Parts: sequence; structure tokens; C-alpha cells
Amino acid sequence: MSMNVFDRDSLIIRPELLQTGYMPDQILFRDEQLNKLVTTISPILRGYQPKDMVLLGKSETGKTIVVNKILNDLREKIHQETLNLEIIEISYSISFSPERAIQNVIYRITEDDNVYEAGLNEQQVVSKLIDILKTKEMSLLIVDHNVPGKKSKDFLKLLFDAQASLQTRNTNKNIFISFILIIDSDIEKWQVDDNYITILFSPYSKEEIEKIVFDRKSAFKEGAISDEIIKQCITAVPNSISDILSLLLDTTIIAESKNANSVTEEHLVNMLKIRKHNPVIEIIRTLTPSQRIVIQIIAALTSEKKEVHASDIYNEYVSLCKKENIKPLSRPRISQIIGGFEDLGILNRNVIYEEIPGRISTITLNVSSESLREMLNEVSKIE
Ligand SMILES: Nc1ncnc2c1ncn2[C@@H]1O[C@H](COP(=O)(O)OP(=O)(O)OP(=O)(O)O)[C@@H](O)[C@H]1O
Ligand SMILES: [Mg+2]
Repeated sequence: MSMNVFDRDSLIIRPELLQTGYMPDQILFRDEQLNKLVTTISPILRGYQPKDMVLLGKSETGKTIVVNKILNDLREKIHQETLNLEIIEISYSISFSPERAIQNVIYRITEDDNVYEAGLNEQQVVSKLIDILKTKEMSLLIVDHNVPGKKSKDFLKLLFDAQASLQTRNTNKNIFISFILIIDSDIEKWQVDDNYITILFSPYSKEEIEKIVFDRKSAFKEGAISDEIIKQCITAVPNSISDILSLLLDTTIIAESKNANSVTEEHLVNMLKIRKHNPVIEIIRTLTPSQRIVIQIIAALTSEKKEVHASDIYNEYVSLCKKENIKPLSRPRISQIIGGFEDLGILNRNVIYEEIPGRISTITLNVSSESLREMLNEVSKIE
């Protein structure tokens, strides 16, 4: 009997170890930050408001992984102790404005997307949030993994305002709003103040990066990859653990597609050629499915005509969802996603008309439409 064509050994036995979001048994070199977070946040488990926290550090310094570890363990405790505390993770980087970020928080608590349509101003949004918390007798821990440096002061101010007005309106119930913000700013440029606890994440040394990467080696089948090749991957993209891990994964996939028993230097060279260094590709690779759909629509529309309106994108999106039989996200959510692309520098929005009930904005890409489509293709090939 001949062998089934699908029966071939995979070189990767635990792919999750190479994926972002994987939580290793041990987070290396971050004891100091972990301890400071635990100490600061612990009062929350006794029902007290913890000090607010700002985490500062360049990209790839382990901020997200440390916060995720804390939140996982905190959720477990909250569940055990049945505290009426909600942890809300939001993404300020895809919000237009501080009030939109608070609307997102409300939406996460209530799942009612009317909050976006209501046209509330900053103070009204904050009041609405407080009303909801009081009704539910619920406290909040707001966590944002990626607040862009330039806009973060506005968001901080709004959060402090919300805390202050909750305090004045908090009659006898001990409810609170606290937050952990991860602020994407150069440490040197950030003016620390004592309204919150600051936790610094400095870049890893070369040796530390190597230890962290080698700690994931059990992703591979025994003998599938040599230490030498792993080191070459580290040298190829030296400052980013995520990039190193995804380069390892992609290179091994190439080796598998060539039916090789182990990863060779040639596979790595091939992979590096495919990737070159393309920051937009790196961004595309990290997008969520909805974001991916929206950018695909934008790529298609911008290839058809010069002036693309945000509403064209939404209409196209809705009809695509109908075709695929999936429930479309609301218009404001899609606007948020487009705003996120603007923050990432992929496109610009120009408001050409603003009046109640809406505004009309046109979209212009900062990369050529063809190259965007090429990159989208390339990414879907690699995956
Ligand atoms: N100490 C560590 N131990 C194990 N893995 C780590 C450690 N630090 C970082 N990593 C891994 O490195 C990658 C980058 O870490 P992380 O996403 O936490 O960085 P970040 O500071 O949040 O970066 P960004 O600012 O870009 O969001 C992740 O894949 C993470 O799993
Ligand atoms: Mg992060």
C-alpha cells in the first residue's frame, strides 16, 4: 500500500510557541516589572482602588506579555473571589478621540452600539459611563495595550476627569475606575508625574533576546533546526523578538514545503528575500480579520478610482459581508478601523464636508494601490 500523501512529518510540533500571544511558563528578565505591577494592583482584590499605572518602553520590550500575565492571573482571582470588577481591554490607537475611547469602554460593558450614534460630548460620555457603573455597582480596570505617545495626554486627562467625577458622585458605594496604560513613547520624551505609578521597560540585551528565543526551541521537532540557523535568524532581525519568531516560523514552513528534513541556510535566505524589509507587510501580518477585510476593500477601491469616500468603503464592506453571510460591524466600528490605518501611517483621511448628521471624508493611500495589493497577496501566500 502506498503512503498517504498527507503523512509527512511536520518540522514544527508546537507552532503556538512561535506565535504572538503565546504565554510561556516563565517570563524571563522581567521580575522587577512583574513585582511592581503585582504590588500596585493587589489592593483591587480587597475591593480598594489601586494606583493607576503607566507602562513605558519601546516596542518589543515585553510590556504586553507582562500585562497579559498579570491580567490572566487577576481574572482568575476575581473569579474566585466573585468581585464585581470588570477588566476592559481597549485599543485607544484605533479611536479618533478620548471620548470615542470611553464610548468603546461603554460598548464593551453594555454591548449596545447605540452609544456611538448618540453624538455625546466628552462630559456626557463620562457621565454615561458613571451611571452605568453605579447601576451595576461595578468597578473598572481599563487596560490599553498601545496608546500612541502623542495623543496619550488627552486620554490620561479624560480618565482623571472620569475618576474625579466618579468620586464626587459616589455616594456610599465603593466603586472606582482605575487604569493601566501602555504608552508608546520614548522614555526620554515622557514627562513622568506622580499621579500614577510609572513602570519602565528597557530594551533587552542581545544575550537576553537570545535566551528568550532559545526558550521557544521546543516548538520544533528534535533535529529540525540547528542552533546555528536560529542564531542567523536572530542576526537577521536583531531587535524584535516577534520578528525573529515569525521569521523562524516562515522559514520552517518553506523548508516543509520543499519536503526537507531540516531547515537549511538556503531556506532562510529564500525567506529573507521574500520578506525584504517591508514595514507595511509587517503591519498587515498583525491585522485582525475585520481589519484585513477593510484594507482589502480599500486596496481594491483605490485601484479603481482616484477619490474614495469612507462611505464607499462601508457600502462595499456591507455587501461583502452579505455575500459571505457574516454579520457586518457597525459604521462607526469600520470608521475606527480606518482611523487605525491612519494612525499606522498607511493612509490619510481628508474631511471634505462636515455637518450633522455626518462627515464625508476621502481616503488617500500613502503607498501605491498596486503595491498594497501585492503585499496583501504576499501575506496571504506566506500564511
Ligand atoms: N521576557 C520575555 N519572555 C518571553 N517572551 C518574551 C519576553 N519579552 C517579550 N517576549 C516575546 O517577545 C514578543 C514581544 O513582546 P511584547 O509584545 O510583550 O512587547 P511590547 O513591549 O508589548 O511591544 P509593543 O510595544 O510593540 O507592543 C512577544 O512575542 C513576546 O511573547
Ligand atoms: Mg505590546
